[in-house]
Amino acid sequence: MNNLKLIGPFKQIIPMTRLPLKGAIKDESLTIIEDSGILIEGEKIYAVGDYDDLLTLAKANKAEIHPLTGDHTCIPGFIDAHTHICFGGSRANDYAMRNAGKTYLEISKAGGGIWDTVTQTRKATKEALVKGIIKRAKRHLTNGVTTIEVKSGYGLSVDEELKMLYAIKEANEKLANDLIPTCLAAHMFPKDHSGSPSDYLEEVSSGLFPKLKEENLAHRIDAFIEEGAFSESLIAPYFQKARAFGFDITVHADQFSTGGSKVAVDYSAVSADHLEASTETEIALLAKSDVIPVALPGASLGLGCAFTPARKILDAGGALAIASDHNPGSAPMGDLLTQASILGAFEKLTNAEVLVGITLRAAAALKLSDRGQLGQGYLADLSIFHTNDYKEILYNQGDFKPCMVWKKGELVYNKHKH
Ligand code: NIG
Ligand code: FE
Repeated sequence: MNNLKLIGPFKQIIPMTRLPLKGAIKDESLTIIEDSGILIEGEKIYAVGDYDDLLTLAKANKAEIHPLTGDHTCIPGFIDAHTHICFGGSRANDYAMRNAGKTYLEISKAGGGIWDTVTQTRKATKEALVKGIIKRAKRHLTNGVTTIEVKSGYGLSVDEELKMLYAIKEANEKLANDLIPTCLAAHMFPKDHSGSPSDYLEEVSSGLFPKLKEENLAHRIDAFIEEGAFSESLIAPYFQKARAFGFDITVHADQFSTGGSKVAVDYSAVSADHLEASTETEIALLAKSDVIPVALPGASLGLGCAFTPARKILDAGGALAIASDHNPGSAPMGDLLTQASILGAFEKLTNAEVLVGITLRAAAALKLSDRGQLGQGYLADLSIFHTNDYKEILYNQGDFKPCMVWKKGELVYNKHKH
């Protein structure tokens, strides 16, 4: 054993282990390991358990000891499974217009909305995009978010989508957080395209899909299924092609109108995200599938509309991940912990259901089996809070931030040193 580190003692470790992937969870099901420590070997966890036992083992193996004084609670590093943090410009104007009574779709038709960000993102250099991603991802890190999914989708041409995906790749190399890229060229039909929406999809899939593979730029393909974006029949050949290439599929589904969740199930998508408009039918369909429903409370807060029916999804036996949707239009706040806490309060979700939604189930939404739990062999991605009771985390509705964050066995954020 080499490169060993011991962290502790913790008042509580909440390992998020032995929890179901789907369905409602009572707080009593959470494992709480008291007076405990975490022994790390390299990037991974070697053991989680009683601090005194681990201290003996650590000393015998000449581990680096990282002693904690005062009360600390440890939980897996959070995973934000849906963001659009690669973009140029601001949409403060949209927000003001919306709050003055205009709808999202009206603003989009008037030249605002996604297209406005496309224009501003196309104007930005790749370097400027990298800088923006780094700034936002660093803030996520101080909130305990160690893995962030990041979508393209504001380029909407082969070259401009590639610019975004290269920017995400470059930012990933410079950041402590892991970025998981997703190609969202099917975000909307670009207003400057001379052909039809199906011509556009054919063009981007032919131009982008081979390149995504060759350059390892993304292994996930997303599409916005909505009136005003892409319909089920338009997306069919695009998703078939994506599947033939071996990409994972994910869908922006049921945000304003239903239909997207059925597409997600039909194409065995890894996740169906948004679902604010889902009814009993869509909820039942998702619950009996392997698709992970992803709630995006940040979009509900940004647009001032209903939350995803999270309680109903869980009670129907569905899984539920919670992500920030951080983007300049519908979800400008980007604070995952605040949003997950608020969703919990409005939807009556237990602490366990909210926390599993930003750890274990968020990992499943990204098909990542190496994180989201604290146990032997998992990545040593840790969010550490200065408290003796994990319930303080959600109770403070995002105002209570981690004091320390570890990523792959390294201390990457220490509040007392910032
Ligand atoms: O997830 N719904 C579509 N896409 C984004 C919004 C992007 C934007 O408004 O710029 C979303 O909410
Ligand atoms: Fe989104």
